[in-house]
Amino acid sequence: MKTTEIKPSTGKLGIVIPGLGAVGTTFIAGVLLVRKGLNIPVGSLTQMGKIRIGQGSLSKDLMIKDFLPLAGLDDLEFGGWDIFEESAYEAAAHASVLKKEDFELVKDELMAIKPWKAVFNKNYVKKLDGVWVKKAPTYWDLVQMLKDDINNFKKEKNLSRVVMIWCGSTEIFQEVIPGVHDTLENFEKGLKESNPKIAPSMMYAYAALDLGIPYANGAPNLCNSIPALWELADKRKVPMCGSDFKTGQTLMKTIIAPGLKARMIGIAGWFSTNILGNRDGEVLDDPESFKTKEVSKLSVLDEILQPDLYPELYKDFYHKVTINYYPPRGDNKEGWDNIDIFGWLGYPMQIKIDFLCRDSILAAPIVLDLVLLLDLSQRASLFGNQDWLSFYWKSPQHAPGEKPQHDLFIQLIKLKNTMRWLMNEAPNTFLGDISFD
Ligand SMILES: NC(=O)c1ccc[n+]([C@@H]2O[C@H](COP(=O)([O-])OP(=O)(O)OC[C@H]3O[C@@H](n4cnc5c(N)ncnc54)[C@H](O)[C@@H]3O)[C@@H](O)[C@H]2O)c1
Repeated sequence: MKTTEIKPSTGKLGIVIPGLGAVGTTFIAGVLLVRKGLNIPVGSLTQMGKIRIGQGSLSKDLMIKDFLPLAGLDDLEFGGWDIFEESAYEAAAHASVLKKEDFELVKDELMAIKPWKAVFNKNYVKKLDGVWVKKAPTYWDLVQMLKDDINNFKKEKNLSRVVMIWCGSTEIFQEVIPGVHDTLENFEKGLKESNPKIAPSMMYAYAALDLGIPYANGAPNLCNSIPALWELADKRKVPMCGSDFKTGQTLMKTIIAPGLKARMIGIAGWFSTNILGNRDGEVLDDPESFKTKEVSKLSVLDEILQPDLYPELYKDFYHKVTINYYPPRGDNKEGWDNIDIFGWLGYPMQIKIDFLCRDSILAAPIVLDLVLLLDLSQRASLFGNQDWLSFYWKSPQHAPGEKPQHDLFIQLIKLKNTMRWLMNEAPNTFLGDISFD
């Protein structure tokens, strides 16, 4: 049983977002509409989900938001950075995810959210040119400027706590570089020397963690998945997590693959392709940014299918993922999957999926859940990587040498049992009675 008390959610919670683009503005506008009673938060487990507590006839289903002491939607304040000066209202119009008639209802609130100047480096996002960008002698000074933005926001809005979530563009593919990313000491030295191997997203993550602010990385780039920032999260006792919101095609993959595996159906190949026309699609049109996304998208099947344990079924399956930038589609992505499977005696079959999805509509509720659950983690004195939140990630962060869990259903059990543990309730073992989660 857990013994630490969870501090109450008193006062206001600030959400600061690097990247006020399609996901960021769809999230903010949605929360504003929901809290005015003008819409409902579909897709958000914390707002719409229930959790079963107790066994047998004594069990009851509680709303998660009533069961956990989460911050209320009325207590949220929003701020953020972008490389373009447009307000959240203009950015929402630009992103064209939501219909004007929807975000017009919260126009005043969105207009009031003006981005702070960003920390940006074109070498990391080759398709964009930043115009609303901070300038300072060193990266160390840039980080201090980010901290000032946060502290000023905290003071201005009278906030008791803050959470940061990266909704900025996908940066180029990077691996941990010894001597720069490996220890906090090296990283801080790198900031002072403006080492070009330090990406802007890492500077935001450093600023947040050093201020004791929980951090989540919604994109696939390396960002906070480096030993130096794990060390900082431990040192400051701050929770963090990532990477890459699990939406669209990968969400479908992590729903379907566990089902096929559960029935011991073989897989010969899984071909996935997408067309996408928003700014994210444009950024991913650059091979170096796409590489980051590709690595994130490819990793899930291997972990779910466990080819080492089931070589006859999964050892040789071929997995291919592509994304095509196709402007007419905007945010309304289309993802095709062709899955070549085989059954009894090796007889082949096929599954075709054509998912007409809306990327940011799937991502926005994840952003809401993550900020509320990270704030809860901090009040419960949890720190470092929060792997119980792997449910939300395409590439769940994990300790070196450990394998991440990708199966959505195992992730859900882990998520809900951690919620029970936090509230000193017994985990659901699914034994003894007909149990629901
Ligand atoms: N939409 C989804 O379903 C989904 C799923 C998984 C991951 N993601 C990731 O989330 C991120 C946001 O996606 P989106 O569709 O909102 O993209 P977007 O292009 O609409 O928004 C990204 C915003 O970040 C800004 N930006 C870029 N670099 C910045 C920096 N250094 N500092 C501050 N702002 C910066 C851009 O100007 C842009 O406004 C992307 O990395 C994307 O890959 C999105």
